Amino acid sequence: MSHTHGHDPHHSGHGVFDDERVALMIGAEGESAGPLTAEAIERATAALRGGRDDVRRVADLGCGPGVEACALATAFPAALIVALDGSPAMRAAAQRRVGEAGLSARVEVGAIDLDGDLSSLGAFDLVWTAQALHHLRDEAATLARVAALLRPGGVLCVLERLDPAELVASDDLGRPGLWERVAGAQAAWHADRSASAPATGLEGYAALVGEAGFGVVDSGPLRSVATLEGSPGAAPLVARYVQGALRNLTDRLDPADIEALRALDGGGSARVSHLEVRQSRTLVIGRAPGA
Ligand SMILES: C[S@@+](CC[C@H](N)C(=O)[O-])C[C@H]1O[C@@H](n2cnc3c(N)ncnc32)[C@H](O)[C@@H]1O
Repeated sequence: MSHTHGHDPHHSGHGVFDDERVALMIGAEGESAGPLTAEAIERATAALRGGRDDVRRVADLGCGPGVEACALATAFPAALIVALDGSPAMRAAAQRRVGEAGLSARVEVGAIDLDGDLSSLGAFDLVWTAQALHHLRDEAATLARVAALLRPGGVLCVLERLDPAELVASDDLGRPGLWERVAGAQAAWHADRSASAPATGLEGYAALVGEAGFGVVDSGPLRSVATLEGSPGAAPLVARYVQGALRNLTDRLDPADIEALRALDGGGSARVSHLEVRQSRTLVIGRAPGA
């Protein structure tokens, strides 16, 4: 069985991420997933043999703009966080965020190709990888290389997107209930699409982590609802969401809703000052053998 998704690696690989605006948007998405990240860190901590202060080296593979790397540095005060990504734009955004958070002494941002050799990275107590695996050529092969990085008893925490994010913007564009209707149409579209081309779901990721030699100690869905106020990434996040709706949902929405979305796509997204973001992830926590 192949564990790749049949993605075109040139389309879904890190090339598409090498863009400042995308880094801004993924940063906003990460900020709005704060409650979900906190819960995943709690559950990963529970899987560790020692306490938080025993964690000395943490890797964040495919760290993007560094939101989780900062959260990990805060959660593990004695640890060095090695935050790695293939995209220069993402690394620049991560470096900026780490500096602004005053965490430069404990978060090292570096380059990596997760499809390649990882053996020079050294040993880790915790490896975190969020929404990066599904972009790789061979998730199973990378997970096997990740297993070799963990100290005996070390923990792997995998997060992957479950359902598409849903947004509710402060401005309903004169169409009360618009954002709920878009979210409903998107959920129906996603359900139809998943039925015809299933992505690797919770059980798939748990199996992948197990096959890579880890004991799966925890897994399940995580959901969060959070509000973004005045984030520079909010407008691009809404713009991408609206473009997705205009691409995929035109036959599922009222023509007047479509017209309102088109007007927003035509330059109105800056009016979004307050944004509710609903996100979900699949969480799988594995423990390396030993100790
Ligand atoms: C969707 S973002 C996730 C960012 C962050 N972990 C989060 O959850 O918000 C995926 C990241 O994986 C990185 N990535 C994709 N393929 C990669 C590869 N082969 N090697 C290194 N990084 C890669 C991208 O550059 C991007 O920053």
